[in-house]
Amino acid sequence: MKILLDRRSPDPVYRQIRDRISRLIQSGTLQPGDRLPSIRTLAAAARVNKLTVIEAYGVLEADGLVYARAGSGYFVSTPTHPLIQGTSKFAPRQEVVVPEQGEMSYFDLYMASVQAHHQGEISVFSSGFPYLSDADMLQRIARRALRHVDETLFNYALPQGQEPLRKQIVQLLIQQGLDISPDDLIITSGSMQGLSLVMNYCVQPGDWVIVENPTYHGALAILQNLGARVIGIPMTNEGINLDLLAQYLHSHRPRLIYTISTLHNPTGLTTSQAHRQQLSALANQYQCRVLEDNAYEGLSFAAVPPPLKALDQADHVIYVGTFSKTLMPGLRVGYLVVTGQDYSRLLERKLLQDLGTSTAAQSIVSEFLASGYYRRHMTQLRNHNLLGRNAMLTLLEQHFPAEASWTMPEGGLFLWVKLPDGLPMQLICSEAAAEKIMVTPGSTFFPNQQGYPAMRLNFSYPVDAIERGVAILGKIIKRHL
Ligand SMILES: Cc1ncc(COP(=O)(O)O)c(C=O)c1O
Repeated sequence: MKILLDRRSPDPVYRQIRDRISRLIQSGTLQPGDRLPSIRTLAAAARVNKLTVIEAYGVLEADGLVYARAGSGYFVSTPTHPLIQGTSKFAPRQEVVVPEQGEMSYFDLYMASVQAHHQGEISVFSSGFPYLSDADMLQRIARRALRHVDETLFNYALPQGQEPLRKQIVQLLIQQGLDISPDDLIITSGSMQGLSLVMNYCVQPGDWVIVENPTYHGALAILQNLGARVIGIPMTNEGINLDLLAQYLHSHRPRLIYTISTLHNPTGLTTSQAHRQQLSALANQYQCRVLEDNAYEGLSFAAVPPPLKALDQADHVIYVGTFSKTLMPGLRVGYLVVTGQDYSRLLERKLLQDLGTSTAAQSIVSEFLASGYYRRHMTQLRNHNLLGRNAMLTLLEQHFPAEASWTMPEGGLFLWVKLPDGLPMQLICSEAAAEKIMVTPGSTFFPNQQGYPAMRLNFSYPVDAIERGVAILGKIIKRHL
């Protein structure tokens, strides 16, 4: 097996090996049951340390792509779900949106979603909440974390967060391609606090901010609240439209670009390395800060290029992450990666807001990361979501009108469906609610709360719930065509 390595790439070598082998498996060049080269053979062929190959095989195993047989080496696993063929037809109108004033009530939306979640019998298809599949294990780990307490757990702690947790997060981020230390991290109360801290720090009322159109409505609500003027640059199937981004960076000189480069909310799209390089070059050219929201990192089915923060030479990019989508949203543990002078200023703001994130919540996340369960849990979560995604894509073809198109995300929790123009979305949503299916109009993700008819659909539900939900939604939509 020939593995070409780019030793100047910010992507660590073990990850390059893993990506190459995972592509060989996904393209069918390596078939289920095929034996991978021995660690020694591959290390010699690629001229790397054996530990690097061990790390690469370990990640492939955690991804569920290969398995180890004692004494015989590593073999390609048999996929438990069919691969989805075909390409997305998603190609929305490319219209820039500069709303006069936002009118969205994020409060109402959020409250409705949480309340519906607490009423078990409703399928909240529009939500961005992860499906909690392994509550017992999460509870076990939480109890264990609290059993190990010493007095630090119940005392005031460092505003930037506990050092062991910051070290653990750094290990995860290094695997993504970031070159950072625990001193670049601030643990926050969920990533929502991180977004709010950074937006309030970088943006003054009246400043221009560029967002993707559509984008995460929670971020839009913060910008609206602080009096920013928002420019919504449309998403293509490959990410934000870079030509329009360049044009508006030039004409409006915004203070900030808010972007979700991996498993974008709400479209589920992940941008390529080339797209990231171009976005990063544009931000540099116009000296514009970037807030990179990576809330869904870790939920990718396939290898993802390193984040924009890995390309950042000038401390222009602030990165935000969270454990809400992988562990438990209720713990409220997120983090910021901030390099350069911004660090101490943001840390001071964090201190003034709440003195620090709950030490009990940090300890639970820390215990989870230290236990061997984390990798297994992530593999299970991705496999569960992959099954749901595949089911949903197949069912959309069967039940949704031919004029609809949708994205085909390579991970995460949801996909984005673009529906034919003129559909009465409010009516469709209330008819779905009568059938105990909660969907919200996609308009909530557009900065002007308009745009084309659309909906975000969460595929992290069990397959039978997805079958029922998509069939009912398809019937309702067709009735209104
Ligand atoms: C893109 C994105 N960023 C941030 C958040 C906030 O998550 P949390 O505050 O739970 O970390 C969400 C939640 O849905 C999200 O989708």
